[in-house]
Amino acid sequence: MENETFCFSFSDFHFPFSILKVLILAIESSCDETAAAVVRDGREILSSVISSQIELHRPFGGVVPELASREHLEKIDPIVDEALNEANVTLKEIDAVAVTQGPGLIGSLLVGVCYAKALAWGLDIPFIGVNHIEGHVYSVAFENPPVEYPALALIVSGGHTNLFFIPEAGKYKVVSRTRDDAAGEAFDKVAKMLGLEYPGGPVVEKLAEEGNAGKIKFPVAKISDGRPDFSFSGLKTAVSRYVRENEIKPVAADETPSQEIKDVCAAFQTTVIKSLVGTMEKLAIQLQPKTLIVAGGVACNMALRQAAQKTAEKLNVPVYFPSKHLSTDNAAMIAAAGYAHLQKGEQSDLRMTADVSMRLQNFENEDADLRKKKVRYRL
Ligand code: KG4
Ligand code: ZN
Repeated sequence: MENETFCFSFSDFHFPFSILKVLILAIESSCDETAAAVVRDGREILSSVISSQIELHRPFGGVVPELASREHLEKIDPIVDEALNEANVTLKEIDAVAVTQGPGLIGSLLVGVCYAKALAWGLDIPFIGVNHIEGHVYSVAFENPPVEYPALALIVSGGHTNLFFIPEAGKYKVVSRTRDDAAGEAFDKVAKMLGLEYPGGPVVEKLAEEGNAGKIKFPVAKISDGRPDFSFSGLKTAVSRYVRENEIKPVAADETPSQEIKDVCAAFQTTVIKSLVGTMEKLAIQLQPKTLIVAGGVACNMALRQAAQKTAEKLNVPVYFPSKHLSTDNAAMIAAAGYAHLQKGEQSDLRMTADVSMRLQNFENEDADLRKKKVRYRL
């Protein structure tokens, strides 16, 4: 969390936000979704509009940054209008504007940040920069009971795979990170290898349902220094080797995937889930959280949800997931996180700008220590 972008002064507010009904207009444009939402009091979604660029990027098998930012520019105005119309509110009724500040693609982030800043300045209302990953944490604020702290949050998306220990709202410590690929990225890369479409997660999950996971044994990576971190690049290589050695042909367009492909999907997915949930369980036993959170695009995966649910039951703690449409990128989660900041009297300076590699950890940060030990990882 880049604390310097917040100022901690209640005097900036014209009324106590914690008492009145607060309407936040939030904008998310960190990657390939242009999204806007109007949320009341951080928990009630009046509208949540998402324009996905999946079709635009599909031919390239991944997000093309230049195309993404151009598309955000075209979509942001109509998407914000749609969000206001759906919520049946006017700009004048909005109390604050929240926007994803980072991490993400610079061109994409800047579209949202500049737009939100101009809106907040024009309306003379508070402006809040939100960490995208914190947004994913807050995606469980809807349709779940309130989170009890300490909490342990597994955030798994296309760009990130982290476990955060959250002793109280707004305090984050990374207790597990990926040393290489993010889990969603591994799904996308394995799908590409098998000739399946982008994004890979939903397709791999669907084929895995008809596959036999026990047919192939892929290894769960063990980190040599013993830290409870994730690593998925070795698994990706193991899948690639298996495909090559067994002469499995990638699925051609209009072709039905073979049983062998389905078995690879099932074995791969099982291995990823074992790594994610196994690590979460180990850390939960150690840290004794009162709530488990599983969020981010990969949290759409039903097999992952079932495994996390089983672990939660075993440990006798509740586990909260976002509903499916709030698992992938959306602006409602940014509004929920923004509301939490606003309640604490935190807002951003209008000089704030997009932060491509924004971090979400604000206590017991081990980054410097890891760098000293030359540990390579990704947050
Ligand atoms: O959170 P998100 O929308 O964007 C990022 O912030 O990265 O996550 C997108 C990622 C993609 O890698 C996609 O393949 C993965 O989430 N994903 C899934 C599923 N649905 C989406 N992974 C596994 N199973 C799914 N059902
Ligand atoms: Zn995301």
